[in-house]
Parts: sequence; C-alpha cells; structure tokens
Amino acid sequence: MRIGILTSGGDCPGINATIRGVCKTAINHYGMEVYGIHSGFRGLLDNDIVPLTDKDLTGLLNMGGTILGTSREKPFKKRHSASSENNKPALMLKNIQDLQLDCIVCIGGNGTQKTATKLAQAGVNVVSIPKTIDNDVWGTDSSFGFDSAVTIATEAIDRLHSTASSHQRVMVIEVMGHKAGWIALYSGMAGGGDVILLPEMPYNIRNIGNTIIERLKKGKTYSIVVVAEGIKTPDGKKAAEYIAQEIEYETGFETRETVLGYIQRGGAPTAFDRNLATRMGGHATELIANGQFGRMVALQGSRIGSIPLEEVAGKLKTVNENHDLIIQGKRLGICFG
Ligand code: F6P
Repeated sequence: MRIGILTSGGDCPGINATIRGVCKTAINHYGMEVYGIHSGFRGLLDNDIVPLTDKDLTGLLNMGGTILGTSREKPFKKRHSASSENNKPALMLKNIQDLQLDCIVCIGGNGTQKTATKLAQAGVNVVSIPKTIDNDVWGTDSSFGFDSAVTIATEAIDRLHSTASSHQRVMVIEVMGHKAGWIALYSGMAGGGDVILLPEMPYNIRNIGNTIIERLKKGKTYSIVVVAEGIKTPDGKKAAEYIAQEIEYETGFETRETVLGYIQRGGAPTAFDRNLATRMGGHATELIANGQFGRMVALQGSRIGSIPLEEVAGKLKTVNENHDLIIQGKRLGICFG
C-alpha cells in the first residue's frame, strides 16, 4: 500500500514522534510505501509530496515541530465570491489519484478533523490522528501536545512564585487553549495557582479581588492568577492585560502580567506525549492495514481505539465545571472566578 501523511493546523511537540510512529510501523511492520505531504492540505493542492524512507525518520522522537511543515489550509471552505467555483477538492482528488495513494493520514486538531471528514465523504481513504495543545478534540481523552504544553506552562508558573513573593505582587499569566480552558486548568492546578480563570466558567472581578485580599489577611503577600486566553473580556481585550488591570484597580495590589504564548508549542515533547504519539501512530497504521478508514484514532481510558470521523467533526471538547480538578481546587480555596 502507498500512504500519504500530512500535518495541519498549529504545530506542537509530538508531531514528529507521531510521523515516526506511523511511518516506521508502515515501512518496517507492514511493508508499505510512505509519502510525506508538505504544508498540510496545501501540499495535496500543490502536489508537494516526497517519498519518506527509514533514513528520513531518524531523530524525530524528541524533535519539536513537524518535518513536513504545516498550514491552516481549508480546501473545502466555500469561496466568498460566488462566481469563482472552488475547484480545490477536485484538484486534491486528482493529485491523490495520480500518485495512486491508497490512504491519507491526517494529523491535526479540530479544523483538520473537519477537512479529513469531508475528504472521506469525497471517497478518499482517510485515517486521522488528534493533535493539539488545546486538548479540545472531541472523542479522545487526550491529544498529544497537551501534556507538553501543560508541562511548559507549569514550569513557567513555578518561576512566577519567587518573583511575586519577592515583590509582594499579583502575577497574572495567560496560557493558550483557544476556546477551551484545559491548559489553564491543568497547569494552574499543577503550578499552585490561587485564581484560575477558564472560558467555560463565568468570573467576577469582585470575587477575584476578595480572594487576593483574604489571602493577604492570612499573611500571603502575593498571588498567582492563571488565565486562559479564551476568557470573555470587554471589547476583545487580551485576557492577561485586562485581568491584571482590573485586579490592580480592585485591590490596589501591584500587578504584572505575562503572556506565555508560543513557548507552549515549542521544543521537545514530554515522555508521555512521545509514547502517546507512538501508540496513536502505530494504531493508525494498523487501521489502514485492516482497511478501516474514515476513523480518528483516540485515547479511551488506558487503551487506544478509534471512532468514526463523522462523530468528531464540528464538535469541541470543553471543560465541565464538575471536573474533579475543579471540585478539589475549590475545596483547597482556589478561586475559579
Ligand atoms: O490551536 C493551538 C493554538 O496554539 C491555540 O492555543 C492558539 O489560540 C492558536 O493555536 C494560535 O493560532 P496561530 O498559530 O495561527 O497564531
């Protein structure tokens, strides 16, 4: 069999480990041929596709980013001008046919799963693997990239404690996560956040201010506030900037903000993400060998399974306020807004 593999959407630690998992399993265990598609779905449009051999796959396990490159190309997206017909799908199908690719492996987040579903509905054999630091892909307990981003954010939060304590300040740190609060919840709890704000839970500056002042009354002269980038703010203000201003105004505490940004997407994956990537990559190749297409690989409890792509497309996995990290956090006196 000849399989093509592409990586699409935001990059993250663990993509190269996944490419390694798919391709080395395909070549060594199933005797398949593997072709790398550059820059996500744009590579299918531009026919920017190269054969991958075992030699190309060394040193990938702990390498950040993606050797194939990525893009946010959405080939099925309707064009604005009604006149210009969107011929991208037909072009992709022709290139796949001309190259005689038997299956396309799509590694990506929600946008990628949606495009992969449309490609499958157009008759292409597709298997997808969930990838995102946001952990917001529905149907899988975790996606690789998430544990690495949480580890990076937690290390950053740990460092804020000493500077906050030395200056008796409130430190606000904004973490990624798009519209979901998974990174803020997991890194906020692991990093000892005193206030953790999630897009999924409403917040009130008065409550936040009271938490900080109550802490002061107990002799805690600094506080750490962890904010998800996707929280609601007036006029679309940046989360950390807005919350820091409001806290300083509400409490009179000297407050500073840090936006962690793309550092959460860089560098080597954690051991957990490397092994998750290897497991998911290998399982994707097994699905192809068994002729099971139109499915997304998923972590389900302690096992790796798969679910129909149709079930995933268009859905978002957000934080439920009954998550036990939130329940336990509240019992510790942490303010969630
Ligand atoms: O989806 C991953 C992510 O890092 C989000 O957390 C963030 O909001 C978004 O990508 C940033 O998008 P871009 O890489 O296009 O700036």
